[in-house]
Amino acid sequence: MNLILLGPPGAGKGTQAKRLIDKYGIPQISTGDILRAALKERTELGIKAKEYMDKGALVPDEVVIGIIRDRLTQSDCQKGYMLDGFPRTVVQAEALDDVLNKMGSKIDHVISIEVASDELMKRLTGRRTCRKCGSGYHVVFDPPKKAGGCDKCDGELYQRDDDNETTVGSRLQVYENQTKPLIDYYTKKNLIRPIQGTGSIDDIFGRITAVLG
Ligand code: AP5
Ligand code: MG
Repeated sequence: MNLILLGPPGAGKGTQAKRLIDKYGIPQISTGDILRAALKERTELGIKAKEYMDKGALVPDEVVIGIIRDRLTQSDCQKGYMLDGFPRTVVQAEALDDVLNKMGSKIDHVISIEVASDELMKRLTGRRTCRKCGSGYHVVFDPPKKAGGCDKCDGELYQRDDDNETTVGSRLQVYENQTKPLIDYYTKKNLIRPIQGTGSIDDIFGRITAVLG
């Protein structure tokens, strides 16, 4: 099964992806995670990407298209894949169509997670992530058992640099202008599966799996 998880920043793409990996056994490919990993390694790509990420702007299309083109050729994608945070512009969506055509692959479903913007701001400013295993938490909505520590591996929890109110404001605006048009793009291809993204994390997971079967 080949999926795209589409939705505004904070919609719960990463949270749901972690569960979908376990259920369907397909890899999560998050361009945001790949860029943050590159920054951690201090590669040229990571350092350049940080300039855009810190402003809440999108990294140039050709950079992320290159990342995805390489990643999709890795062997773990043969049984399927889940794209999280890609594509984010119509140019990226068209490039993806082209890459998949050449590979003889295609998208089966675009899961479009819908959440109102005031809720997104609360979710993002309260998000915490484990430095060691990448598990996600929220200080109010999904708190760890011990403040500041990961339930699974006891790693340290940190706040993403782009999760402050100003940068989140820009990211939400960028989503409206550049990414939301993809709902139309995939509706025309009959691939959009709208999912109401408010309620408990378990309920939303249930809505997604009901659609995917
Ligand atoms: P990226 O890392 O993709 O960030 P994003 O799209 O802004 O999305 P988030 O990861 O912030 O949100 P999410 O939907 O995964 O939410 P989560 O599950 O964590 O991109 C970062 C940057 O990289 C971009 O700004 C850009 O610069 C660059 N970039 C990446 N891809 C790019 C591309 N294709 N093109 C160009 N540039 C690119 O949940 C959020 C919080 O809410 C968590 O705390 C969670 O615990 C909580 N939560 C989840 N579900 C619920 C619920 N049901 N109820 C209450 N709380 C909940
Ligand atoms: Mg994410």
